[in-house]
Amino acid sequence: MAALPLVYVLNGPNLNLLGTREPEIYGSDTLDVIAGRLEDKAKGLGLEIDMRQSNHEGHLLDWLHEAQAKEAKAVLLNAGALTHTSLALYDAIRAIRTPVIEVHLSNPAAREAYRHQSYVGMAAKGTIAGFGALGYELALDAAACL
Ligand code: DQA
Repeated sequence: MAALPLVYVLNGPNLNLLGTREPEIYGSDTLDVIAGRLEDKAKGLGLEIDMRQSNHEGHLLDWLHEAQAKEAKAVLLNAGALTHTSLALYDAIRAIRTPVIEVHLSNPAAREAYRHQSYVGMAAKGTIAGFGALGYELALDAAACL
């Protein structure tokens, strides 16, 4: 049987602390709970997901390159605070042909001014933000349609 189309779900700094990290902003679901729901949804969409988290920028860069090498269908990327600072992520997203969908639990555009600029968003296919953990599922729906 042919392998299912693969979607990478990459999470950046501090997202390992979801569940206890500022729940009034980011909700109370842990990343494992979100991953479980996404696995179920992926099955229904005929997709396979590979969900990862790292606090290190270089890992995210390597995984973006890997997504292209593995011919992934898409990448969902919540780069955490690196969203707002990382020219290297901007370059990496532009350097690969794999479409990248930017995801945020909160809506950075409605928060502090220093969160308004997104290097990820400037290079991404599109952005889903402000819907909490549901945003990952909305982004997977979008990925399925690419
Ligand atoms: C975030 C928003 C970022 O501004 C913040 O630095 C995060 C989480 C979100 O998912 O809402 O770490 O990416």
